[in-house]
Amino acid sequence: MTEPIAGVERILFTEEQIDARIREVAAEISRDYAGKTVKLIGILKGSIFFLTALARYIEVPVKIDFLGISSFSNKSGAPGVVRIAKDLDEGLEDDDVILVEDIVDTGFTLRYLLQTLAGRAPNSLSVCTFLDRRARRIVQVPIRYHGFEIPDRFVVGFGLDHNQLYRNLSYVAVMKQEKA
Ligand code: IMP
Ligand code: MG
Repeated sequence: MTEPIAGVERILFTEEQIDARIREVAAEISRDYAGKTVKLIGILKGSIFFLTALARYIEVPVKIDFLGISSFSNKSGAPGVVRIAKDLDEGLEDDDVILVEDIVDTGFTLRYLLQTLAGRAPNSLSVCTFLDRRARRIVQVPIRYHGFEIPDRFVVGFGLDHNQLYRNLSYVAVMKQEKA
C-alpha cells in the first residue's frame, strides 16, 4: 500500500484505480471514434500524465499536440485571465479533436479553450477531463468524457500540482488544509 507523502491528507484514487478508469474511458473513445483518427490536445502541464496514459489504451489512430496556457491561481478565487503561452504546432482543419484537461473546476479555462479551438475549424471538438469538480462549476461547459468526479477539495498528483510540486505522484490525493 502506498503511503501518502508529507503535505498530503489522504489518497483519493490509487494508481490501480486510475489505470482501471483510464482503460474504461479509452474504450469509450475507441468506440465513439471507430474508423477515425483522433487528435488529442493536451493542456500543459497538468494533463500530460493523463494524456499519455489514455493514449496508450486508445485503439484508433492517435495524433497528439499541446497547448500551454498561463496557470490558474488567484488568491481571491476569482477566475484569472487565460492566455496562450505555447500555441499548437499544427492547425486543426478537418481534425477530430479531443481536448484533454487535468481538471475542470469553475469551467472558465475550458470555456476559453473551446472558444479558441472552435475558431480553428476542426471537424469535431469534444472534451475529456481527468477530474471533474462539478460542485464549483460557474460556467456550463460540455464535458463528453471524464475520469472521476471529485469533492470540493484541492487535489494533487497524476499531473496536478501545488506550486508546481506533486505532479509526479502516481495517485491523486487531497492536500492538507492550508492555514488561512
Ligand atoms: P477552472 O478554469 O476554474 O475550471 O480551472 C481549471 C484549472 O485550474 C485546471 O486546469 C488546473 O490547472 C487548476 N486547478 C483547479 N483545481 C485544481 C486542484 O485541485 N489541483 C490542482 N490544480 C487545480
Ligand atoms: Mg490546467
